[in-house]
Amino acid sequence: MLNLPASLVACFLLCFTSVRATYQYPDLQYDALEEFLYEGTRPDGSSMAQLVTPCKLRGGTNTTVAAEWLRLVYHDVATHNISDGTGGLDGSIFFETDRSENVGAGMNNTLSDFSSFPNKYLTRADLIAIATSWAVATCSGPIVPFQGGRVDANVAGPFGVPDPSDSLESLTANFAKQGFNVSEMIQLVACGHTLGGVRYPDFPTIVSPGADTSDTVVDLFDDTQTFDHNIVSGYLDGTSRDPLLVLNQTMASDGRVFGSDSNVTMQSMNSADAFAQTCVTILTKMLQTVPSTVTLTDEITLLPVKVSTSAVQLTVGTSELQFQAAVRVTVANSTTTTVTMYWCDRYGDAANCASGLKRFAASGASATVSSPTSQAMGVTLEKYKFVVPINANQSISKFWFEIDYGNGTTSTADNGGAYYVVDQDEVLWVPSMSQAKSVLTGVSGVTVTAAVKNTSTPSRVYMDCFGRATTDYIAANATYDLTLNSSIPAVAGYNFYTGTATFDYGSSMSFDLYSVAENGTSYVDTYRQAGLIGVALASTSTVNSTTSSAVGGDSGAGTARPVDSRWAVGALGLVSLWTLTYL
Ligand code: HEM
Ligand SMILES: *[C@@H]1O[C@H](CO)[C@@H](O)[C@H](O)[C@H]1NC(C)=O
Ligand SMILES: *[C@@H]1O[C@H](CO)[C@@H](O)[C@H](O)[C@H]1NC(C)=O
Ligand SMILES: *[C@@H]1O[C@H](CO)[C@@H](O)[C@H](O)[C@H]1NC(C)=O
Ligand SMILES: *[C@@H]1O[C@H](CO)[C@@H](O)[C@H](O)[C@H]1NC(C)=O
Ligand SMILES: *[C@@H]1O[C@H](CO)[C@@H](O)[C@H](O)[C@H]1NC(C)=O
Ligand SMILES: *[C@@H]1O[C@H](CO)[C@@H](O)[C@H](O)[C@H]1NC(C)=O
Ligand SMILES: *[C@@H]1O[C@H](CO)[C@@H](O)[C@H](O)[C@H]1NC(C)=O
Ligand SMILES: *[C@@H]1O[C@H](CO)[C@@H](O)[C@H](O)[C@H]1NC(C)=O
Ligand SMILES: *[C@@H]1O[C@H](CO)[C@@H](O)[C@H](O)[C@H]1NC(C)=O
Ligand SMILES: *[C@@H]1O[C@H](CO)[C@@H](O)[C@H](O)[C@H]1NC(C)=O
Ligand SMILES: *[C@@H]1O[C@H](CO)[C@@H](O)[C@H](O)[C@H]1NC(C)=O
Ligand SMILES: *[C@@H]1O[C@H](CO)[C@@H](O)[C@H](O)[C@H]1NC(C)=O
Repeated sequence: MLNLPASLVACFLLCFTSVRATYQYPDLQYDALEEFLYEGTRPDGSSMAQLVTPCKLRGGTNTTVAAEWLRLVYHDVATHNISDGTGGLDGSIFFETDRSENVGAGMNNTLSDFSSFPNKYLTRADLIAIATSWAVATCSGPIVPFQGGRVDANVAGPFGVPDPSDSLESLTANFAKQGFNVSEMIQLVACGHTLGGVRYPDFPTIVSPGADTSDTVVDLFDDTQTFDHNIVSGYLDGTSRDPLLVLNQTMASDGRVFGSDSNVTMQSMNSADAFAQTCVTILTKMLQTVPSTVTLTDEITLLPVKVSTSAVQLTVGTSELQFQAAVRVTVANSTTTTVTMYWCDRYGDAANCASGLKRFAASGASATVSSPTSQAMGVTLEKYKFVVPINANQSISKFWFEIDYGNGTTSTADNGGAYYVVDQDEVLWVPSMSQAKSVLTGVSGVTVTAAVKNTSTPSRVYMDCFGRATTDYIAANATYDLTLNSSIPAVAGYNFYTGTATFDYGSSMSFDLYSVAENGTSYVDTYRQAGLIGVALASTSTVNSTTSSAVGGDSGAGTARPVDSRWAVGALGLVSLWTLTYL
């Protein structure tokens, strides 16, 4: 059980800051980072976690995807200069793979794995950091905690990745420039070189070709593909096969590094637990090696109940409004959890549940979601989806959930008493009436249709588009106007407006859709996902109502609800859970 002591150590670094903050929906950056870290997918469901899980081999080679990812993060970090605070984990590696210091197919493979996943709230550099945590966890290593907030570089940074031919003096000076002393240098190299190996043809003076010289050969650092202390024990007992130790001595940087403090550090890492603990600490420091202008967030911990901002949507169907929500629940393994969504009307006698009238619906299908991080924590995450029809004359003002865990425990998820609020129903994105660029002849871009209430004539309808998964790796954004499209007949009191974003914002494009009323009031449908274009929502459940005051309602507003606060402290989890419940 490697996770336990590792968690303890990391806890000293981060736990105290992470429990102080209380999450409240919506928090677009937290939502995006949390969702990616623990669910492994981008908002349209496409999974990056699957590429690496479970400690997958890279096709056609004898190394793992995880090893390639872990090498890449270090090569991004290695350009940090602690004296002037420049460089570090800033995604500049995306512009540096033509350099000889970044030789190797693993680099471009990795950038290709990552290319479609960054989005407005997930920078390329944060994505690299999450990938590091997954790479270690999925190969049976400990959980390296993740903090967000890294800022992407849009150009290549300085050179400076160490080379196997470097002298010990040069390696020591280089790591010191990056902010790591001799013990930390040894730890970092051992924690890196427990995965993967060295390739022919990339390092022909180290690794010999196979029988067929056109084949890739990966000479592994140790005898296992897992994140374990074999790299250390093999070194100390003289059985190592590490190609940067036992082969060409000119290229034996691992030998020079590992022995540089008379083996004190290597001896201190020579057990499963000590190795895991040391690696969590040093890899956490590696992920914190960012330009001095960057401030990292607190640790992104697992929310026990999570409503996804990108999945919540009010839209227009064929004759009525439709409302979609998805809630992810940490469930017990052996029982069936049922989730019911409740909501209040926006207009009429029962507006805001004034008369005690609440509507409710059972969930449609649920799906289990996971990433290497949530798998390593041993939690089961189930996502429940709801699509319900909404009478436009009543609309919807706020919603919440009742969760029955099937084990005798039920709880209310109402955003700490604040409820999940539907901000507005003036302007709504209509994915079923929008089109992706592939359907548009000769136009690169996306045509977006918005529904705007016909009770006023908006002075302007427009969208702010954003994409980070672009082919040149540079975030793009621009504003486009939408115009009244009278060829689409009004539905449920809404007129339709259409506009086209004429640029390729990549596969994780999102946009904010605005309508400015005649009196100047601006309404916005926030963080809509172009990846969901063309999807027509099908109602999953019938709507019922109750006037019972036994569930939910206004009475709870403002009161503390421990179930919604961040009592389950994520990657640092197990220990924190026992000691910090309900903080
Ligand atoms: C003295 C500093 C270092 C030197 C000279 C060095 C050198 C190398 C070389 C030559 C390779 C083979 C790459 C290939 O053939 O594709 C390699 C692989 C690797 N390195 Fe390092 N490295 C150093 C430090 C680190 C650090 C600090 C980490 C991470 C914490 C790291 C992680 C890795 C990983 C995971 C691989 C395996 C990649 C794969 O199997 O595709 N290295 N390293
Ligand atoms: C790191 O920054 C310091 C201070 O600006 C500078 O003197 C030094 O040359 C830099 N090191 C490298 C390797 O660029
Ligand atoms: C990786 O991509 C870069 C940039 O496109 C290219 O210059 C380099 O040759 C590629 N490396 C390999 C090993 O294919
Ligand atoms: C390196 O830094 C760590 C953390 O500050 C410290 O515990 C360790 O003693 C230092 N090692 C050396 C050789 O200075
Ligand atoms: C060892 O590596 C050096 C530097 O790459 C190279 O010049 C030398 O030929 C290599 N030796 C052998 C025996 O391959
Ligand atoms: C790949 O490496 C593993 C672990 O060292 C080893 O058991 C296996 O035989 C290797 N496979 C190939 C094709 O080299
Ligand atoms: C460190 O360990 C290596 C490998 O066992 C050994 O060759 C070397 O002599 C050791 N160095 C010291 C100073 O004990
Ligand atoms: C039921 O399961 C939930 C989710 O795992 C857990 O939080 C709760 O404590 C369990 N209740 C009982 C009575 O075991
Ligand atoms: C629940 O099931 C998952 C997936 O099968 C497993 O990884 C995890 O260890 C289980 N957790 C508990 C607490 O039994
Ligand atoms: C909404 O109200 C309007 C005006 O009172 C009415 O004509 C329409 O039938 C109502 N729609 C529904 C679905 O109740
Ligand atoms: C502006 O107009 C909208 C209707 O389009 C209305 O709901 C809102 O209350 C008005 N705001 C102000 C400040 O008058
Ligand atoms: C939008 O793009 C402009 C350049 O066109 C840039 O200056 C600005 O920082 C970008 N905005 C965001 C939020 O990235
Ligand atoms: C509606 O909910 C009530 C409980 O509030 C229940 O008794 C009734 O059977 C439900 N009706 C339908 C059609 O589901």
